[in-house]
Parts: sequence; C-alpha cells; structure tokens
Amino acid sequence: MTWTTLPKMPESGESTPQLLNLDHAAMQTGFSWDAARAELAGLPNGGLNIAFEAVDRWVAAGFASRTALRWLGKNGERREFSYADLAGLSNRFANLLERLGVVPGDRICVLTGRIPELYIAALGTLKAGAVFCPLFSAFGPEPVRVRLVKSQARVLVTTTLLYERKVRAQCDELPDLRQILLTDLLADGDDATGLLPFHEQLMMESAERGPPATRPEDMALLHFTSGTTGTPKGAVHVHNAVIAHRLTGRLALDVRLGDIYWCTADPGWVTGVSYGIIAPLANGATLVVDEAEFDARRWYAILEQEQVNVWYTAPTAIRMLMKAGAVALQGRDLGALRFMASVGEPLNPEAVIWSREVLGQPFHDTWWQTETGAIMIANTPGLAIRPGSMGQPLPGIEAAIVRRRTDGGVDILASDTEGELALRVGWPSLFRDYLGDSDRYQRCFAGDWYLSGDLARRDADGYFWFVGRADDVIKTAGHLIGPFEVESALLEHPAVAEVGMIGKPDEFAGQIIKAFVALKPGYEPNDGLRKELIGFARTRLGPAVAPRELEFMVDLPKTRSGKILRRLLRARELDLPLGDLSTLEGDAAES
Ligand code: WT7
Repeated sequence: MTWTTLPKMPESGESTPQLLNLDHAAMQTGFSWDAARAELAGLPNGGLNIAFEAVDRWVAAGFASRTALRWLGKNGERREFSYADLAGLSNRFANLLERLGVVPGDRICVLTGRIPELYIAALGTLKAGAVFCPLFSAFGPEPVRVRLVKSQARVLVTTTLLYERKVRAQCDELPDLRQILLTDLLADGDDATGLLPFHEQLMMESAERGPPATRPEDMALLHFTSGTTGTPKGAVHVHNAVIAHRLTGRLALDVRLGDIYWCTADPGWVTGVSYGIIAPLANGATLVVDEAEFDARRWYAILEQEQVNVWYTAPTAIRMLMKAGAVALQGRDLGALRFMASVGEPLNPEAVIWSREVLGQPFHDTWWQTETGAIMIANTPGLAIRPGSMGQPLPGIEAAIVRRRTDGGVDILASDTEGELALRVGWPSLFRDYLGDSDRYQRCFAGDWYLSGDLARRDADGYFWFVGRADDVIKTAGHLIGPFEVESALLEHPAVAEVGMIGKPDEFAGQIIKAFVALKPGYEPNDGLRKELIGFARTRLGPAVAPRELEFMVDLPKTRSGKILRRLLRARELDLPLGDLSTLEGDAAES
C-alpha cells in the first residue's frame, strides 16, 4: 500500500481561516501560563494531548481539508496531507500500536529520513499515550544502539536500508524491541523477526478513534542529548509542553493560522519536533517538509514556489547560503516571506547584516535547548535586533546570569558580567527527568533555577549574549555532540591508547570535531593509520558524529587522576597564550 492508494478523507465544511489578530504588546504585559493553557482545545476531564492540539482540534474547527503537511521528496515528488488526512492516519497508527500490544508510556523510536511516515508515527504515538523518541538517520550503528537500549524502545519505525545498516546486527541486545515497522516493506512481513510492513499494517486499522486518554503530565517525548561525561541523556517531556510549543511558535516565530511554514531542522533532533511538527501545527499552519539535504538553489526555489511565510533555520545553513552568494537567489521572489529565525548555534552578526542586505529582512536569533523544550530567549517580531545577541526572554520566562556557589545555591550576577545562563523553573515545556538518571537531572538545578550549562551575559537593556559552553560538549553544524560517544568509539580500535575530542572553529559548521589520539606501543603514527581511524569512527558513529580531523600525540594532557584535559588540547589547538591555561583548567560543569 502506498500513499497514492490511500482512501480520500471526506471534506468537511471548509471555511477560509481568519488570521488571528495578535496583540503582542498585550501578551507581554498581561501574561500568564494559565491564559496560554486556556488557548488550547484540551480534552474532557482535564486531559491534554499534543497530537490532538496539533491536528484534531483543527479538523473539529472546520479546517479539515486545509493542508497540514506538504512533503517535497528528494526526487521531485510532492504529496499533500490535509489536517483530516493526518488525523485519520495518526488514528490508524495509534490503533496499530494498540493492536501490537503497546501500552501508554512505551517508547516508540523512529529512525527515518524526513518522510511522511515519520510525522504519522510521531502523532499516532502521542495519541496512543506512548512516547515518541526520534533517532537521527545520519547516526551510525553505535549511537542508534545506545539510544534504542536506553530508551527501552518497544517499537521501531525505520526503512529496510537503515534497519540493515544500523539495527539488524544488534537486535539481540534489544529485549524490549518487539516489532519493527519497515516503511518500504510491501510483503507480508515476518512474525519471527518482528519485521512488519508499515503501510499494510496501517491500512488494516480504522481511521477512527476516540479522544486520547493522556493527562497533562504524562510522558510524551523523549529526546536524547549529550553531556561531557557518560552516555547520552534521554530528556523526558510531557504533554503539557504543547502549551509552550504553541505560544512560542506564535510569539517567537510569528506563526499564524493558515501560514506556510518551513523548519529546516531534522526531526531527529528536538528542533525538528518542537518546531518542525508541534508548534506550527498547534498554530494551524501548513508544514513544508523537504526530504533533500541542503542546497542553496533548491532552498530559494522552495521559499518562492511554496510561498513560505515563516522560515526557521540554523546558522550553519545561513553561512552556506552566504557562501553560495546572491547568484543562487537570482530571479527568486521571496515576497511571501514574513519572518525568518535561526537557532542552535551563535548567529554571527555578519549573517544578520547579510540577510538584511541580500534577503531584505533580518534573521531573528532564538535560544533554547533540548531540556527547555521550547524557545526561551528570542528576537521577537517587535524587538529591535542587536546583531549577535540572542534577544530577550519570552513572556513567562525569567532568565538570569548566575554563578554557582559551593553550598549548592547560585548568585545572580549584575549586567555585563559573564556567567552561567539560568532560567527560573515554572514553564510547561521544561524537561521532567533524564530517563533512568534522576541524579543527573537533579544536578541541573539550584533552588528553583535551571542551569543551562551555557555561558552568557546580559546587557543593561536586558539583551542576552552567548559566550560559550561551560562544559566540553560541542556544536557541529548545529548538532550537539558529547565527547564520550566519540572517544569511546575510537578507544575500541586496537591501536588507540588515549583519545581527547575538541571542537575546532570552522567557517561554516561553527565547529568541527577534532580528535587527539595517543597510540599503543607498536603502532606507528602515519597518514594511513590516521585515515583508518577516521574511517573506523565514521562506520561506527556515522558522518554527523565522527571526527573530521585526527592528530596523533605521544601523550594526552591529563589531571593527576587521569582525566584527559580537553581544555588544554583546545588551548593548544587555538594557540591560546600560556597565561590563559590556568583559567582553562578551571572546573567544567560535568553534566
Ligand atoms: C545548545 C542546545 C537549538 C535548540 C535545540 C537544540 C546552543 C542554541 C543558540 C543560540 C548560541 C545556541 C547552546 C545550547 N545554542 N541556541 N541562539 N546561540 N548557541 O538544542 O541540541 O540541546 O543544544 O545549543 O549551547 O545550550 P540542543
């Protein structure tokens, strides 16, 4: 069964959606989270469900045949899914999960590229009361394995190719994984291996389903993120997060009912879920999803042809657009574009100035994290942009620059002082736990402050400026990578005695991963071995996580207890003056 054979959903009384009349000034003054909650449709008896708010409420409101998802395939295909289509398909998926024995709280992992099945599985999982856990398709077998084990995935949705390459060999280690739904399998499936054809299974189910039974604090989303030490952490989010998704979509990204909206982030990461699925749908927009990878001309063509109104992208992509030059834009009319925003890494002032000059309007930087679930700090539509600044906290968000005290408390620092960016708890999309790791979760808080692990400063006018990370994680092309995963993979090679990983500044990716390696006795540091090690890491970790550069050293700098001092490696790489070394050795937050 394929999309073309899908039964058409009935067209219910369509009316032209009215644009919401937004009063941003009133939102700033009269803000309360209760009022934000009251904008949602909600469910009987105080229930709440992200997928219901994203899809079914619009069907009920008379927008059933409006396009919810416009999918652009990498080979030129194009498919439209109305809100009614998405409602029916996600109902089918929820019904399917129940038939497969999935119970509320079970984790459903999805490892695919940006294909429609991902969106259906995400929404259907939420309707069934199960937990949606996306896995980035460019991860290699090792990061996939770690996440499948840690999430205790009960069902996996993937493609035959990704299954063969990244999952098959490790199935024995995954006792909780009972069924694997393959999106491109057309045959009957195989009960013994648990491999089932996604579409055939979906079409066996009814498109009808009663309202979801989830409560506001039920676990809904699981997003893996990295710290300095240990395996990746699974940040737990609940259905209440949709209050913040909807509100921030509107306040920070200016998404309005009926907008055409394009978020270029992959749903394998939190941005691609919070702002690539939930926030725009919860505001009644049409999602544009492009399956293909970055290409400057293709992107400008999409902006023009799809008449994109709101565009959310990342600094790495913006720098690549700058590199492609105005010629890639030639002849394109971006007249429909009303608002452009960026997230994930520092947005350099030149990029803001360039966008004003070349695209005719500025990119608006926004700041948040996997743990915060939604945008916290932003250059909102009404705010005067200071290029290089992340903007100001959104309504309902209190941010401060703090210094941790030894007694576990924090001191709030004056303006123009560098310190750790902290947020006062109390917003609905704050993560509720690191799955199975509550100690690590507790360490993120001091009193009622959540500590972000980012260094920043606030100026006298309340604008926040990013300074760097307080720990050793690195951002490469917008992806957060922890040293533990990379170093552990390299340590599995027989020649490797010690590894330290750092982020090395890069014109486009912000940073690239560079590994320093000390070899075991008997191994020669030469170019052949260097290439072999990089290839070894790529095979295990995938191209998004593997180091791009590798340098041999006789010894790696270590503390007396044997911990590798990545900060010294970084200082050496960046040619920092020796005087700075003492400060570089200072305690890094090990989250
Ligand atoms: C880290 C969070 C991007 C949200 C989803 C990814 C860095 C995020 C900015 C920005 C400078 C930024 C921070 C943050 N970051 N936005 N506007 N300027 N740095 O979340 O993968 O958990 O990454 O991304 O270091 O802590 P994530």
